[in-house]
Amino acid sequence: MKKTTPTALVTSGPTYEPIDPVRFLGNRSSGKQGHAIAAALRDAGFAVTLMSGPTALADVTGVKMVHVTTAKEMLEACKAVLPVDVAVFAAAVADWRPKRVQSHKIKKNGSAPPVIELVENPDILKTVATHKTLRPRLVIGFAAETKEVIANANAKREAKGCDWIIANDVSGGQGFDADTNSVTLITDRHTEIWKEQTKQAIAEKLVKKIIGVVGVE
Ligand code: CTP
Repeated sequence: MKKTTPTALVTSGPTYEPIDPVRFLGNRSSGKQGHAIAAALRDAGFAVTLMSGPTALADVTGVKMVHVTTAKEMLEACKAVLPVDVAVFAAAVADWRPKRVQSHKIKKNGSAPPVIELVENPDILKTVATHKTLRPRLVIGFAAETKEVIANANAKREAKGCDWIIANDVSGGQGFDADTNSVTLITDRHTEIWKEQTKQAIAEKLVKKIIGVVGVE
């Protein structure tokens, strides 16, 4: 029988939403966890597309790298990659973007600071998880929470339609740019606490779980 290589999509890093030619709205995501997951999936035999927002990290070798800047670009690039067997949404997508992008640098001119009107960005995870025809077999999200972490993360899992969610307590900025993290994996059946360990170890543990669902020959 012909072997088929399982496919995976991973989003990673922040998105930057431009205000004017020199300024943007962004966040503190380093991309370390998403890039580590892409590498672990590659090592497990998946054909991986890594959708990366702007990060300081080197490209992951042996995966298809797609570099994007904004949430809207990330969404379009993700849709173009479907169908895949597994999708892991580790990116810290900016929730809002400036309604208007100024074509010239906003100057102070001695006047009051500008008021920047924001509009909501599309939810990439939810769009893919609720896709009528191209939903991956396994959709995994992350939940960055600062209070009632497990309850909020599980509510997010249900609201977004993903199978599993990895809850991340980011109160006090924990988890951002660090090489280690402690997380809780929440599925529809159970909750597992993964004590503090390297992001690489978390990635490998997650990929073992993924293989339990999406077998690799
Ligand atoms: N996500 C996404 N597109 C967005 C926002 C979030 O794909 N526009 C994904 C993230 O990659 C993550 C999950 O949704 O897998 C949860 O992200 P998080 O920032 O924790 O939650 P939000 O949806 O932004 O909700 P809130 O800020 O209200 O907690």
